[in-house]
Amino acid sequence: MNPFREGLLGDRLPAPTVVVIFGATGDLTRRKLMPALYNLALARLLPPGFSVLGVARRPWSDDDFRAEQRAGAAEFSRTKPLDDVVWDDFAQGVGYVRGTFADPATYEALKARLDELDRTRATRGNRVFYLSVAPGDVAIIVENLHRAGLFADPRDPARATRLVCEKPHGTDLASSRALDQMLHAALDESQIFRIDHYLGKEAVQNLLAFRFANAIFEPLWNRQHVDHVQITVAEEIGIEGRGSFYESAGALRDIVQNHLIQLVTLAAMEPVAAFDEGSVRDEKVKVLRALRPLTPEALRTDVVRAQYAHGGVAGSGVPGYREEKDVAPDSVTETFVAMTAYVDNWRWRGVPFYLRAGKRLTRRATEISVHFKAAPLALFGPSAPEPNVLVLRIQPDEGITLRFVSKVPGPTTVLRPVNMDFRYGTTFGHAAPEAYERLLLDVMLGDPTLFTRADEVDWSWRYFDPVLAAWKAEGTKDLPAYAAGTWGPAAAEKLITRDGRRWRSP
Ligand code: BG6
Repeated sequence: MNPFREGLLGDRLPAPTVVVIFGATGDLTRRKLMPALYNLALARLLPPGFSVLGVARRPWSDDDFRAEQRAGAAEFSRTKPLDDVVWDDFAQGVGYVRGTFADPATYEALKARLDELDRTRATRGNRVFYLSVAPGDVAIIVENLHRAGLFADPRDPARATRLVCEKPHGTDLASSRALDQMLHAALDESQIFRIDHYLGKEAVQNLLAFRFANAIFEPLWNRQHVDHVQITVAEEIGIEGRGSFYESAGALRDIVQNHLIQLVTLAAMEPVAAFDEGSVRDEKVKVLRALRPLTPEALRTDVVRAQYAHGGVAGSGVPGYREEKDVAPDSVTETFVAMTAYVDNWRWRGVPFYLRAGKRLTRRATEISVHFKAAPLALFGPSAPEPNVLVLRIQPDEGITLRFVSKVPGPTTVLRPVNMDFRYGTTFGHAAPEAYERLLLDVMLGDPTLFTRADEVDWSWRYFDPVLAAWKAEGTKDLPAYAAGTWGPAAAEKLITRDGRRWRSP
């Protein structure tokens, strides 16, 4: 690396752009998007003239919107306190358009504001439309933007249009295909950025660097040496007042079909010949295509769902899922999923991937652990040698741990597993940027590597559709409860112990 080039931020500086956020009065804007944009401004990674327009129904003025976002950034920015000079400069480009998504007048007003920004801030027709809205509102917004002539031709080199869609990308295979058809009627795939914010996390990106920038791990990364892989996405929080959203989502649609399966693809994919969006996403799709389809038999034995009940004594604080606001008292929505998946290709055939995700578990922990086969001989005592485990901690306490066996110092031969540890915090000494910072920058730069392509979403739904269908048919049958604050239901334990293995405690 040329040290002089490292300082040249211009390498990654996007062209002047306006980011238009639909649903701008919502939580995502206040907690994530604006703090991320502010931190990009602080790091001087935003282009000159950079502007933001919020669009929503509330009768706010530009100043109301700015004040609200300033308070949000002060509270949720990863860097504190807010730098007034940077914020004030940033806020000069922030404005608000009031209107409903179905009303053509909203888009006329938006168009006028965008033209004005092109004149006053030289944004040159480059737009990012960020849809931070309920899935049901996506079509009406895209159709109206299209009708109002707000989408540039994808071949136009002078101005770029990019559309960012938040997950869920559909709620099953059919709805996801319908959504895609609608999007592709208005836009080219190269203009569509489907966000899965897990791909913007530093430790997730490092998964590829770890695998493909180091030569010593790749030869071991296969069925010859790996016994099994575990991926956990555990949350301590519940549904945080998002009852009506979560009721229609559940853990499978909220986490497993997107965040968790993305981790599977990155852990399992083949090395790429070049680190570009085409190669990386092609290899991820190949993993999804190789997932062993879930037969009715596998659905019974290899997939577990459950719902949290109150922890400890009833009424002692943490409510059960069915007692949460906006949740039906007889809800069958799952808040926990555990399953065994198989990637049927030459690298992974026969290696189980044990996956689990849930709300109100013991603690927040997202990690991938690769469990290697045990040494073939017990040379140092009667018991079988403890197998090596490589743990990639995505959050919190981002880092990598290799577990191996060591002799305990002393005159007798006693062995014990020990850890070799890498921690981002202590090694690099500064906090990693938030996922949304990287992803928003990539959208402005037109780099889709860390976004999910239409075929990825499609193959993922193909895999999970039978699960949804089976659960729908089952109703409340086989929906065990687990106490809030535990690691899930007994059925999840059984899923792995019946194979002679056990969940790692993160
Ligand atoms: C979101 C889900 O996509 O991811 C939430 O909708 C979940 O339910 C969140 O809490 C988890 O994200 P993170 O970055 O905190 O792991």
